[in-house]
Amino acid sequence: MALDWSNLGFAYRDVNCHIRYTWKNGKWDEGILEKEPYFPVHIAATCLHYGQDAFEGLKVFRTKSGAICAFRPIENARRMNSSARRSCMAEVPEELFLDAVNRVVKANEEFVPPYGTGASLYVRPLLLGTGPQIGVNAADEYTFIILVTPVGAYYKGGLQPVRALVMDEFDRAAPHGTGFVKMGGNYGAALLPHKICHDKGYPIDLYLDPVQHKYIDEFGTSNFIAIDKNGAYVTPLSHSVLPSITNNGLRTVAKQLGMDVQVRPIEFEELRTFQEVASVGTAVVITPVNEIHRGDDVILVGPREGCGPYLQKLYDAYTSIQWGEADDPYGWRVEIK
Ligand code: PLP
Ligand code: COI
Repeated sequence: MALDWSNLGFAYRDVNCHIRYTWKNGKWDEGILEKEPYFPVHIAATCLHYGQDAFEGLKVFRTKSGAICAFRPIENARRMNSSARRSCMAEVPEELFLDAVNRVVKANEEFVPPYGTGASLYVRPLLLGTGPQIGVNAADEYTFIILVTPVGAYYKGGLQPVRALVMDEFDRAAPHGTGFVKMGGNYGAALLPHKICHDKGYPIDLYLDPVQHKYIDEFGTSNFIAIDKNGAYVTPLSHSVLPSITNNGLRTVAKQLGMDVQVRPIEFEELRTFQEVASVGTAVVITPVNEIHRGDDVILVGPREGCGPYLQKLYDAYTSIQWGEADDPYGWRVEIK
């Protein structure tokens, strides 16, 4: 495969195939591996009109031993089904989800980047209402797709810090604030603030609580974590925050490292006292955030280059499990066979 694995960025590339299943008359079919990156969709499909859809994101790594491993895919299956329940879609049985990941990754094995390049195979499950409706009703037919594509860094890569902009005027739209689900429409509502933020020269957008604009919620692409003045790992307790699998895993690792872990409301003003701040998620991994701008207010956190010692430790411990360089006491790696 003639790809420059170390410089992929986070971009879509065509691969061999995707996998696609249809749910009709109360059951899922066997699924097909489809070469063309297109599928026929009814013009009255509910995913097109009413945003009846959900998506997930996970990564597959070529590990140090050469084994190809998906990272915590069961968590994505569970979260996708909570999104399915929230938008009245047919759920995907967990075994079917895991088998689909295995089948589509195997069929695209040569696109799993080599160990040591920092790149991985990004896996994007999609659940769509594809039955026709013209009234506001749930569909009677669903499509479950998994596409895969090799990716590198979402932001600058490694532990290089980025700066963030607080999107006060958009907090009220609460782009991600729909109660623990990952639905396409939420991201559609976030495209304008993303664009405004990028056009102003900031890679990442930060949202505060939509009612008081007082508490930190999350970034547009990822959860917010910080190391407070006492060295505790803190992350917001909020109904508007996606329950990040990365944040969950990092809390486990932080406890293992002996850190105090706190999930609690975090006032924006407390930012001034933090030692380190990061954006965390599947795509962004752990990206240090060293400047947060809110109007004319600029808050500097952590070192100007690289990151502080706590984020470094968390990054090393977490990514060494992903890359198979460390033991996996939690059973997070699932080998593709
Ligand atoms: N928050 C938002 C808005 C996201 O889009 C994502 C990415 O999926 C996350 C948080 C991080 O979630 P995870 O760690 O499960 O990828
Ligand atoms: C992920 O991290 O998997 C996401 O879905 C976030 C998106 C910004 C790519």
